[in-house]
Amino acid sequence: MVKASDPAAARRCLVIVLAAGEGTRMKSRTPKVLHALAGRSLLAHVLHAVSAAGADAVSVVVGPDRDDVAAEARRVRADATIHVQAQRLGTAHAVLAARDEIAQGYDDVLVAFADTPLVTAETFGRLRAELARGAAVAVLGFEAADPNGYGRLIIEGEDLLAIREHKDANDEERRVGLCNAGLMALDGGEALALLDAIGQDNAQREFYLTDAVAVARARGLKAHVVVADEAEVQGINDRTQLAQAEATLQVRLRLAAMREGATLQAPETVFLSADTRLGRDVVVEPHVVFGPGAMVEDGAVIHAFSHLEGARVRAGASVGPYARLRPGTDIGEGARVGNFVEVKNATLGAGAKANHLSYLGDATIGARANIGAGTITCNYDGFRKHRTEVGAGAFVGSNSSLVAPVTIGDGAFVGSGSVVTMDVPADALAVGRARQVTKDGWAQKFRETFSGASTKKTE
Ligand code: UD1
Ligand code: CA
Repeated sequence: MVKASDPAAARRCLVIVLAAGEGTRMKSRTPKVLHALAGRSLLAHVLHAVSAAGADAVSVVVGPDRDDVAAEARRVRADATIHVQAQRLGTAHAVLAARDEIAQGYDDVLVAFADTPLVTAETFGRLRAELARGAAVAVLGFEAADPNGYGRLIIEGEDLLAIREHKDANDEERRVGLCNAGLMALDGGEALALLDAIGQDNAQREFYLTDAVAVARARGLKAHVVVADEAEVQGINDRTQLAQAEATLQVRLRLAAMREGATLQAPETVFLSADTRLGRDVVVEPHVVFGPGAMVEDGAVIHAFSHLEGARVRAGASVGPYARLRPGTDIGEGARVGNFVEVKNATLGAGAKANHLSYLGDATIGARANIGAGTITCNYDGFRKHRTEVGAGAFVGSNSSLVAPVTIGDGAFVGSGSVVTMDVPADALAVGRARQVTKDGWAQKFRETFSGASTKKTE
């Protein structure tokens, strides 16, 4: 993250995100960069990271007819400019699709790949710092476990001399383990001149962005390398790499949550989303899944096997085990949602309880209200959704059906097993069930009639 004290902070920064990849190896109808990690698209991960690294402007280069990719870019970063690369003529050619933006005159021009989603804001910041130190080009490198296929970084001291693409490298160059992650930072004043000087004189007849290094050096400018972990620069080309990146990201998210003061009893079993927020002294038991938009405030406990998405759990509340909180859920302070309770688009006031086997959908449950086991809000008539309101301190007896729209007043009682179709005033009792019939001696007579009458036993 760029802080005010960083020399890079005063520099204006444009980030060009290459998102034109076809991703045929994903074998998917969805473009590669819209696949998700931790509930967020690959493209969105990159946009979040560069924004955190201080990008003043973002340009996204998409393939032809990729309105879906453009829409995702704008959803995350409304000011993003979209550029279409009509033909795939190489990475430098792709960057130049945003020529007009580069020409606006920025201090730093960063190139990021939308299919390389784990690069952190801190690493983008380190690339920018090399420009601030006087490099015209800064390249992100990594020591590859298997360098095959990657561009090799040819260095001398801190100077990067050239990047040699695998297909163009000789035997000696192929023995180099330091590889190009692809991401690059260019001095904004030089960027257009460097990019325009890149030719297609290589094995793939492509305009290689990597050639910016040799072009810069030929002009007496400096090129530097910033080294990152291989896991951070992992590109996504297929579903196995997607799963590896997910694993890397989950480890990162769990560590961050624990560092911020949440207890994860079995972190390796907890699945977090990139935007999950856990407060201090939150306890998360094993096997909990946080989908997008979950927020758990200080001291709340999420018991085992719960699933939360688009839900806020306020301080000191208790959820689960086996609870499902769906979008629009707001669980009040100290409230309790127990096992096999599903909540959707519903608010539970402070101290409210729904401890067992319930569905609360499109509902407002008042503070300290008690929702008995098996209570269901009948919120759907086959066409429309309707709301249920339960007042503060109300008591809904077990196995009740609340047929919405319906309001149960503050402090009212609903007898167990009721089907409530009409509003219940505050402090009233509503019982909506068939009256019980009791027949003295009936059971005994029944047994006398039938016992011994049938000697034929079923095996
Ligand atoms: C690139 C680097 C290589 C590096 C490797 C890391 C170049 C010339 N080579 O090679 O040094 O080791 O990444 O993974 O930069 N793209 C476009 N339009 C194009 C071509 C590419 O948008 O015309 C995008 C791709 O969608 C992808 C990125 O640029 O996101 C990299 O392209 P790719 O073809 O994967 O480059 P590599 O051959 O892997
Ligand atoms: Ca690649």
